[in-house]
Amino acid sequence: HAGARLVVVSNRVALPRQTATGGLASALQAALRERGGLWFGWSGKLAADTAATVHRLHDANVDYATIDLSRTDYDDFYTGFANGALWPMLHYRPDLVDYQRSYLDGYLRVNETFADRLQQLITPDDIIWVHDYHLIPLAAMLRRRGVKNRIGFFLHTPLPAAGLLIALPNHRELLETLVSYDLIGVHTTRDLRALEDYFLHETGAVMRRDGRMRSANGRLFRGAAFPISIDTAGLAEAARNAGSNRELGQLRDSLEGRSLIIGVDRLDYSKGLPQRFQAYAQLLERAPELHRRITFLQIAPPSRGAVLEYRQIRRDLERSSGHINGKYAAPDWAPIRYINKSFPHKLLAGYYRTARVGLVTPLRDGMNLVAKEYVASQDPEDPGVLVLSRFAGAAQELTDALLVNPADTEEVADALQQALAMPLAERRQRWNAMMAVLRKNDITAWCNAFLQALGH
Ligand code: UDP
Ligand code: G6P
Repeated sequence: HAGARLVVVSNRVALPRQTATGGLASALQAALRERGGLWFGWSGKLAADTAATVHRLHDANVDYATIDLSRTDYDDFYTGFANGALWPMLHYRPDLVDYQRSYLDGYLRVNETFADRLQQLITPDDIIWVHDYHLIPLAAMLRRRGVKNRIGFFLHTPLPAAGLLIALPNHRELLETLVSYDLIGVHTTRDLRALEDYFLHETGAVMRRDGRMRSANGRLFRGAAFPISIDTAGLAEAARNAGSNRELGQLRDSLEGRSLIIGVDRLDYSKGLPQRFQAYAQLLERAPELHRRITFLQIAPPSRGAVLEYRQIRRDLERSSGHINGKYAAPDWAPIRYINKSFPHKLLAGYYRTARVGLVTPLRDGMNLVAKEYVASQDPEDPGVLVLSRFAGAAQELTDALLVNPADTEEVADALQQALAMPLAERRQRWNAMMAVLRKNDITAWCNAFLQALGH
């Protein structure tokens, strides 16, 4: 299949010259830039009717084909089912699931539309690679239309254990459609165990000796773990070259020699931001000697604002950042800089390099690319320290970070103190170990490993 065209399908598409926030967009943009192909998905725009036209665009070696969504489809498919029900479920938050049949109907309706449009774009030799929880039933719908191509799926979120998944109404009707893919990729071995456990114990699939499963209706399919990654060399170079950037210079000047702690996350409840702010407050409380000597920059671009919990977390963080600044600030020093705006990758690389500590503390995260980007951006001579949640997929690989449980805010405050005081030799040794992993497992390796496994 070496010469076959790659057709990537995802809800979010990183169109050229736009900042698309999110790990999926960052990773697929890097992967497609390298390999070339067609990227099909949502335009990010609303229109009177869903998919009235397919917008085409060509840039470098990538073709883009995108469709608009109607307001109703956006509400039911994107906000309602994908982000109101599936996202919380997949991030171990059944308490936040807002399940409504009309949302599921909308989800299936939009997937059917994706299948219709996609069918018109593909040829029999294409390799089709579908991404993430928005499009779980897509292969089953394509198969029903007679599509025989190899079709792979990659889940960018965690996959919780079967005992949790079964709490989702109609879970079997939805998840069993996954057997229509030839290969199902997840980030970690923990996610893979959950996948196999679900199929073997909830759907009557059986494991064969070659590692493939046979579904109750006789289809052969396979699950495997492929930890996603970043363009390690590209990011390191961007960080090296960011020095002359005016905005980076302004940040550096404003620090006046203080140590920077940086957090970069979509404004999402899975990212553990309230707990992170609390941990930082505990650090300030217990270490008065650090006052005026550190600054915490949290970049948190708003996300999915139509979902109630996302609006609530925004309010909570405004209150808590205001509270911390009100309590600890001095006329010439604010302990937290909190920004609800997104920044382009190249500038972020410079910010990461400037920061002595990268603070990445999600409660659950499929991978978390920010953790990897922070490491790749460091100055080899004077690298910073990564404080990383054990519940990010990245913790499986970046074992030389300071690993923490984000719910234990005292432990996070301890790790911050340790990071800020860490001697250069130890910082270098930890960074070298992590960087070796990222050089070997970069985005190209991830893409090749998946496509090779799909080809078999
Ligand atoms: N990102 C960005 N600009 C921002 C904030 C984030 O480009 O202002 C990017 C970030 O560099 C990373 C991605 O968005 O590549 C976030 O991916 P991650 O896996 O950390 O989390 P996700 O958003 O997918 O949950
Ligand atoms: C996560 C999801 C992606 C999604 C991204 C941004 O990374 O796994 O599928 O694209 O968040 O969220 P959004 O809703 O803006 O696409």
